[in-house]
Amino acid sequence: MPPSILVQRDYDDLSRAGADFVAEIVAARPDAAVLVATGETPMGVYAELARRQEAGTFDGSLLQVFQLDEYAGIPDHDRRTLYAWTLRAFADPLHIPHRRVVRLPGNGDIADGCAAYDRSVAAAGGIHLAILGIGINGHVGFNEPPSDRWTTTRAVRLAPETIRANARYWGQREPVARRGVTVGMMTLVSARRTLLMASGRSKRDIVRRAMRGPVSADVPASLLRDADDLTVLVDRSAWDGAA
Ligand code: F6R
Repeated sequence: MPPSILVQRDYDDLSRAGADFVAEIVAARPDAAVLVATGETPMGVYAELARRQEAGTFDGSLLQVFQLDEYAGIPDHDRRTLYAWTLRAFADPLHIPHRRVVRLPGNGDIADGCAAYDRSVAAAGGIHLAILGIGINGHVGFNEPPSDRWTTTRAVRLAPETIRANARYWGQREPVARRGVTVGMMTLVSARRTLLMASGRSKRDIVRRAMRGPVSADVPASLLRDADDLTVLVDRSAWDGAA
């Protein structure tokens, strides 16, 4: 099935549309296994879902959350882990107990932790919904180019542009990780539903390449076009450069 590309006027509209999309899936399957990106793009969707949770018009409390990616070497209890960000932005506002948040390993035996993570995905029957952003180099999760369709959950070296982009999350001055751990493209492409979001002019060229260029490991997000059911939610500036 070709991706459906939904173009919204601006970031606020994108966030509301993203929340509608997630809410519809959760209404049909309250205990869905959801893969949750961090980064700036989905924060509006998560805030909107949190508002609806408080208003009683949405209930995400039964979801199973799967972390999408993690820094390697940041202490497990540090607030700068992407796990902590996933709790703050998604699990806690939706009252999802932490035992239902499947964490990626950032320390210790990472290969072993990745294998345990993949067993949890299998035990959940696979991912029902993947909520993703896209990096300016076409990465999804920390699947940096080149990452082919068969990559598994693994430790990776972050691309220089990813290290720079991540510095902005933590006020530029903090040292940021140079290595990470990511769910592989194999799991992402196998998700039953995929929501890929992009906002802002800086994403326009890569969104075009990912959706209109060749499906290639050099643009990992393009591989999502092989997924069962991909929805791409963009604002106008990320699609045609309009302000
Ligand atoms: C974050 C993640 C990354 C981001 C991407 C876009 O968990 O997996 O792939 O989705 O780097 O980041 P933003 O949304 O900050 O532009």
